[in-house]
Amino acid sequence: MASQSSSSEKGKGKEKEKEKEEEEENEKSVEGVKEKVKKKGLGWMEWLRGWMYIIYEMLFQRISASHLQNPMPLPPINDLTCIVTGSTSGIGKEIARQLAESGAHIIMAVRNPKAANDLIKKWQEEWSGRGLPLNIEVMELDLLSLDSVVRFAEAWNARTGPLHVLINNAGIFSIGEPQKFSKDGNEEHMQVNHLAPALLSILLLPSLVRGSPSRIINVNSVMHYVGFVDTEDMNVVSGKRKYTSLVGYTSSKLAQVMFSSVLHKRLPAEAGISVVCVSPGIVQTNVVSF
Ligand SMILES: NC(=O)c1ccc[n+]([C@@H]2O[C@H](COP(=O)([O-])OP(=O)(O)OC[C@H]3O[C@@H](n4cnc5c(N)ncnc54)[C@H](OP(=O)(O)O)[C@@H]3O)[C@@H](O)[C@H]2O)c1
Repeated sequence: MASQSSSSEKGKGKEKEKEKEEEEENEKSVEGVKEKVKKKGLGWMEWLRGWMYIIYEMLFQRISASHLQNPMPLPPINDLTCIVTGSTSGIGKEIARQLAESGAHIIMAVRNPKAANDLIKKWQEEWSGRGLPLNIEVMELDLLSLDSVVRFAEAWNARTGPLHVLINNAGIFSIGEPQKFSKDGNEEHMQVNHLAPALLSILLLPSLVRGSPSRIINVNSVMHYVGFVDTEDMNVVSGKRKYTSLVGYTSSKLAQVMFSSVLHKRLPAEAGISVVCVSPGIVQTNVVSF
């Protein structure tokens, strides 16, 4: 009896070993298929189509926007509170000024508070006599530091007031510059253009819920069409793709579009927060640094 049970146990053991080997084989072949399916970059058709969108925007944006008033007239928006990142220059500066002139409470979220305070002084002087003083304030935010993002969000949420609009406008495109990393260890375009604004958006959700219906607006770019996001190589360091500043910028903008789409879908309808990405077209600003 004892020898019978030990031989049946041996048999069971062998079966288990065989099953395990088969499972391992299966896992290996699934991994193999995954490897084959995983894309290493843009296909030439997608690349060509992306560049056609970009060239179309370059050639025709003036014509397609020629019917719009500049600046666009805004209705009074005195009951709205808006955070605008990167509002010391370019597109963000105009957004902050025009929203403030329409009555909104504006928080300029900037890495250079002195520059923002100088702008506010100038805008108040230019505005004087045209209405109530502009309702603008400055808060420090450096998107190259995730700690700074957390500090900003904690300070803002501690006020327990509503936030109606978060405009993630700040961005960089360091043309021709070598690959650089933030102190958090992320490629700089990816951090400033996608990771830090994504973190900010998530951390500010409690305030956005209080301001509901509210909106997160990400200032994106048509250049996202030629971006490629490899979730296993967000920093473009594996050698699979060669890093250029164009790769850094376009990938970060595509990552932002992908994240926004997921966030928009995951937020429950009751939260009343919508997430959008906008492409401003080609605007003469400081965004391209050589
Ligand atoms: N201009 C275009 O043709 C164009 C086209 C498509 C998309 N966009 C997008 O539009 C957005 C605004 O760009 P823009 O053209 O107005 O360029 P810009 O004049 O260079 O403004 C960029 C703003 O981002 C801020 N910023 C940069 N790094 C930051 C950091 N680490 N932390 C906090 N703020 C930081 C800058 O602050 P400082 O003033 O301190 O440098 C500046 O205020 C960007 O997201 C850009 O990708 C622009």
